[in-house]
Amino acid sequence: MDWKAFWNNRAEMFPERLAQVGRGDGSGYAEEAERFEKTLNHIFSTLKVEEGMPVLDLCCGNGLISHALAEKGAEVLGIDFAEKLLKIAKKKAPKNARFIQGDALDLEGVVEEKFDRILLHFSLQYFTKEKEVRTLFKSMANLCSPGGMILVSDIPDSAKVGAYYTTPKDKLRRMWHKFKGQDDMGKFWKRKQLVKICSELGLSAEALDQPETLPYAHYRFDLIIRP
Ligand SMILES: C[S@@+](CC[C@H](N)C(=O)[O-])C[C@H]1O[C@@H](n2cnc3c(N)ncnc32)[C@H](O)[C@@H]1O
Repeated sequence: MDWKAFWNNRAEMFPERLAQVGRGDGSGYAEEAERFEKTLNHIFSTLKVEEGMPVLDLCCGNGLISHALAEKGAEVLGIDFAEKLLKIAKKKAPKNARFIQGDALDLEGVVEEKFDRILLHFSLQYFTKEKEVRTLFKSMANLCSPGGMILVSDIPDSAKVGAYYTTPKDKLRRMWHKFKGQDDMGKFWKRKQLVKICSELGLSAEALDQPETLPYAHYRFDLIIRP
């Protein structure tokens, strides 16, 4: 699956910023906005962002979360490989939010500074091979300041696939996409596997359930990494 093309295409397909980054399909928009607010509050309370704190929002999409973090006072750098989403992120961005185009799997020379907090939200499923996750976690750890925190959140849980594909129609859709070799969702990860990758990289990591009030808590989890 060409995820870069997929996300650039969504930037053009939907006028609503929430839908551009995969939250709903543009219908039920007010409800979707309310659900997103809960997600944002969860990110804020986990990251405990302070005024002036350098924060990296990796795979930032159209900057929905980057803008919100900047409005909390953080100095935000957003990185994404989909230039059409980035163009939207740059529009009306708070002064303390910058954006650059880059592939999360090839960040060498792209970013030189260090960050107290690094966020990768709603995006780990697009890194479908263990080798890619290793590269990704390693570069995030290199970019994290000593004593900092990496939050990889909203990870689809392989133990809860059935809670996502619930109806026979959903299951058929999944089978069809798999048959065509184009997963519609990306990868559902095993908690243990991610924690093991971290431990092999010398990083301490904890996989956590999300609060039940979050919109995708029934099939997603968070991972906190402390380099
Ligand atoms: C579901 S969107 C989430 C965007 C944002 N994190 C949010 O939660 O609103 C997934 C994003 O991951 C980005 N992405 C996927 N693979 C990437 C890669 N290898 N490097 C940079 N960005 C990537 C896509 O372009 C897309 O913007």
